Amino acid sequence: MDKFIIEGPTPLKGQIPISGSKNAALPLMAASLLGNSPSTIHLVPRLKDIYTFNDVIRGTGTEVDFNESENTLRIDPTTLNHTEAPYDLVRKMRASFYMLGALIGRAGEAKVSLPGGCAWGPRPVDLHLKGFETMGIDIELEQGYVHASIDNNSVEGGEFTLEPSSVGATINLVLGAVLRAKKFVIKNAAKEPDVVLLCNMLKKMGADIEGIGTDTLTIQKVDKLEGVEFSNDPDRIETGTYMIAAAMHPDSDVTLTGCKPEDLGRFPTYFKKLGVHFEISGSDIRIQTNGGINPVSIKTKIYPGFPTDLQAQWATLMTQAKGTSTVTDTIYFDRFSYVPELKRLGAKLSVEKNKVTIQGPTQLTGTSVMSTDLRASVSLVLAAMAAEGQSEILRVYHLDRGYEQLEKKLNSVGASITRADQ
Ligand code: UD1
Repeated sequence: MDKFIIEGPTPLKGQIPISGSKNAALPLMAASLLGNSPSTIHLVPRLKDIYTFNDVIRGTGTEVDFNESENTLRIDPTTLNHTEAPYDLVRKMRASFYMLGALIGRAGEAKVSLPGGCAWGPRPVDLHLKGFETMGIDIELEQGYVHASIDNNSVEGGEFTLEPSSVGATINLVLGAVLRAKKFVIKNAAKEPDVVLLCNMLKKMGADIEGIGTDTLTIQKVDKLEGVEFSNDPDRIETGTYMIAAAMHPDSDVTLTGCKPEDLGRFPTYFKKLGVHFEISGSDIRIQTNGGINPVSIKTKIYPGFPTDLQAQWATLMTQAKGTSTVTDTIYFDRFSYVPELKRLGAKLSVEKNKVTIQGPTQLTGTSVMSTDLRASVSLVLAAMAAEGQSEILRVYHLDRGYEQLEKKLNSVGASITRADQ
């Protein structure tokens, strides 16, 4: 197992290229299984979750060829002959549950392990299952597995309202419906850029989907889909994370390149309130700081609201703000495992229900801390980069799931992060 040794504080200066989005790439990979011919996806990040999903897909007899130097993935589903996603792979990554929709679409049947718990509390899949049942798919649960089947080649479909709106359930239901449901309407569908991108790829493959980018998706069955060449989007969460990294230091000048600013929703509106200089020019985002930042309270919301995947980083940033602020997570109520670790670095935070109150500014001091999940881990890296002295971050394997070349990118703009054996 690896750990990071981080020396701080270091102002950040220079350019950071943004990688392809992990959360957007996974549904595109699942969509490739629906084609009659191979698909090629560009801008796929080299991340542990992508490798895990490659293995899940290979388990079905599908050929997967990852050209890592080009970040290009070629998926040939014409040899798919097995409709199972086993527990030992699904438990490593919840998004493997997309195999349920992909296999229903592809083969009309699936046996997919239930994903189980998560480091930050229960994350149910009830909406995925109820949605498939509404569509007319037979769903049975047996020994931790979901068995899905269809009597005939197609099902009637119908209408299903997601309450709450769910990214994963929307993706799974779209994947399952495009080749099987005569007409299926998803109400209160997720509008996150990852969902829009998936629908656009499926449309290019030949799917009939209306309402893309709105909260009502109407899907009508087509008989076949063709493989396509398609480009993934830049990672909006990585972009937001590095914007926050720059703002953590009073003397930074960082340009993020290869971004898709329109995918950031309302995040830039909150970011501007910090009082840092912030400029978008095409796919470049430049952040310049000169002195301290204002406290800015946020509440996470579905897209285009403030993303839950950036709340831990924002709370970390607020430890440096000139005053008190709050971070409230309305999507996940239990996503605060980073708080005790930040306190070990000297931060002043308190949690009440789903709200963190942060008192800033505090001079953080280096020490040993432990990663607990992906976004909590990156927050500890940001905090350690601002802390006086040396910090040690244990269990950084979480970071390798979601941030491509994190230490290389941050070191190239002035950070001091060394990877070592734990
Ligand atoms: C995805 C992202 C994750 C992000 C989250 C919210 C991926 C791989 N993961 O996760 O990084 O934090 O969106 O933007 O893209 N819910 C139910 N029943 C269900 C499904 C969800 O009640 O069957 C609830 C959840 O508990 C949560 C809310 O719906 O409160 C939203 O979750 P959802 O959008 O499904 O998150 P994921 O797709 O799992």
